[in-house]
Amino acid sequence: MTAADGTAVEDLSRLLAQMPRPAGAEYVAALEDELATRFGVQHAVAVSSGTAALHTALLSLSVGPGDEVLVPALSVVMSVAPIIQAGARPVFVDCDRQGRGLDLDDLAAKVTGATKAVLPVHLWGRQGDPVRLAQAAAAHGLAVVEDACQAQGSRTGGRAAGTNGDVGCFSLKDGKIVWCGEGGYLLTDRDDIAGRARALRAHHLPPYDGQPETVGYNYRLAEPLAIIARSNLARFDDLLDHRRGQAQQLAGLLAATPGLKAATDAAAGDNGYSALFRLELERPRAFCEHLARLGVPNSVGTFGLTAADRRPALARYAGSPCSQAEMVIDRTLAVVLTDHDTEERINGYAQTISREASTWDTHR
Ligand SMILES: Cc1ncc(COP(=O)(O)O)c(C=O)c1O
Repeated sequence: MTAADGTAVEDLSRLLAQMPRPAGAEYVAALEDELATRFGVQHAVAVSSGTAALHTALLSLSVGPGDEVLVPALSVVMSVAPIIQAGARPVFVDCDRQGRGLDLDDLAAKVTGATKAVLPVHLWGRQGDPVRLAQAAAAHGLAVVEDACQAQGSRTGGRAAGTNGDVGCFSLKDGKIVWCGEGGYLLTDRDDIAGRARALRAHHLPPYDGQPETVGYNYRLAEPLAIIARSNLARFDDLLDHRRGQAQQLAGLLAATPGLKAATDAAAGDNGYSALFRLELERPRAFCEHLARLGVPNSVGTFGLTAADRRPALARYAGSPCSQAEMVIDRTLAVVLTDHDTEERINGYAQTISREASTWDTHR
């Protein structure tokens, strides 16, 4: 057991002995201080999930009915649902050729008088060029809400993913690099966003008891979960190194496998959230599904990742197809990693992937 874990166990025992207790948020407040320090931002606001963080961020920017929000088709359904929940319309933007960031020409073409914000999604821990995105957003007067739920620890140009826009949103769900079971947080330097987010996450209850024009939600992070999040935040660097090491291990083991090209780029500041490979095999989606059935968890095969504009639930928002995003998703094997995956398990993944890739033609 690490020292951090020992502290967490003591904190949990102390807290449980006091519960139920009047509303208080001692551990949540401590977590927020530590997050703000770690990321070098003015404010961290802890909430109950990454989805809640995105919804709260949009509401804090007064995004609502009649507004449009630009969002990559290279994203997950959880990135889009909060836009709809806020009453706004998602407008899907294609990705750049590397599949890292937004296609800024497509973005410019999709801005209308109703566009209020752009919500870049740093899928698999990768992000595009935040400076160019900020310039594009400023040129059109758009707020930037980053979905950095998969990008804790990713950095570009010396800055952490999730600290480049007006507000960055993170998930603490298990499987994320820093996790606590279920949870999330927002990072921002803007006092107005932080103030509104704190009020919205707890129904505007005191001390946020003015006369709000909107209702709030119960998006509080529970105190026991804040203890777990603090324990993991204390070993953030180790967790990050570990995840990058796992991604590198798998990339190294598969370096000579035909039909696969490693695509995680630690030199570009990626956090190694998933081990990424570009597939140059026939029927790449079927290959990912086949691997999932053989016990290699991956985005397409296990979670059915599909370009957002191709999802039936989002069909009514689809415009011209985001074909680059569809191609990137279909041709990416993103092996899901967690901090509990041992070297042995990763060796097993490599053996399965290598064997199946070299015999894939026979499965047709
Ligand atoms: C990119 C992305 N956005 C949003 C979310 C939503 O986070 P949560 O599951 O904590 O609500 C996730 C969670 O997996 C995610 O990966």
